[in-house]
Amino acid sequence: MPSASRPTTWLVTGSSRGIGFEIVRQLVDSPNNLVVAACRSPEKATALHGLKATAKGTLHLVQLDVSDFDSIRAAAKPLEAILGDIGLDYLINNAAIAILDTAFTLDPEDLLRSVRTNVAGPALVAQICLPFLNKSERKVILNVSSTGGSIATAETVGAKLASYGMSKAALNMLTVKQKAERPDIITITLCPGWVKTDMGGKEAQLEPEESVSGILKVITSATQEDSGKYLRYNGEVIPW
Ligand SMILES: NC(=O)c1ccc[n+]([C@@H]2O[C@H](COP(=O)([O-])OP(=O)(O)OC[C@H]3O[C@@H](n4cnc5c(N)ncnc54)[C@H](OP(=O)(O)O)[C@@H]3O)[C@@H](O)[C@H]2O)c1
Repeated sequence: MPSASRPTTWLVTGSSRGIGFEIVRQLVDSPNNLVVAACRSPEKATALHGLKATAKGTLHLVQLDVSDFDSIRAAAKPLEAILGDIGLDYLINNAAIAILDTAFTLDPEDLLRSVRTNVAGPALVAQICLPFLNKSERKVILNVSSTGGSIATAETVGAKLASYGMSKAALNMLTVKQKAERPDIITITLCPGWVKTDMGGKEAQLEPEESVSGILKVITSATQEDSGKYLRYNGEVIPW
């Protein structure tokens, strides 16, 4: 459990831009946080390097391409150096891709790429992080999903984003399976809302600041009773 002598520790994937970057930005504002910002090209992550200069908390950049399983396995070594002694309180599986396809036009390679990046990668990241989560008394996994993964509301989304929706539905199932196997871990699947990022576009409803402050409230206040839930950034429950 976080204490005065121990920082609260976080790992965020896909932190170079968008929601992942905003999560890191808000977290490093607190001197109590130690944040591992994982991104696939740290050398190009200029915004993250900029944060280092102003961070009140501690910020580490680690290379991690969630679609490259060797890259995920290789991250275990730098993570051991950073988290080996103190453990990991919060894993945020945020990185994802979205392809604008439909069921009858999709390229099956795009579907596999979506599943690889949006669910197989996050599953392996959680496995690699498990030894560090085991050292924490908090143990929270946040899988950043989408209402696009909800089968109950899929008709309102329509035909578009077929590969993406399938991959996020699978990520939702991963969350439930993680809870079933490890009831001591709080594992949540969450939609950040429609957010103004490269993925969400300029027409989106939410600024990243608002979505992320909601997300951080939801996960920092989550209890064991919330584990396995499918939530919105504001804490509302999403129908499966
Ligand atoms: N924005 C929305 O309206 C919205 C709505 C529902 C759900 N979401 C979910 O929210 C999360 C963040 O979305 P966003 O809007 O911030 O997306 P974004 O603006 O497209 O940013 C995506 C982030 O993921 C990273 N990424 C993509 N593929 C990666 C890989 N193979 N390995 C490591 N990092 C990778 C990107 O890194 P690079 O810079 O290296 O490309 C970037 O940092 C995603 O899970 C998304 O599905 C977003």
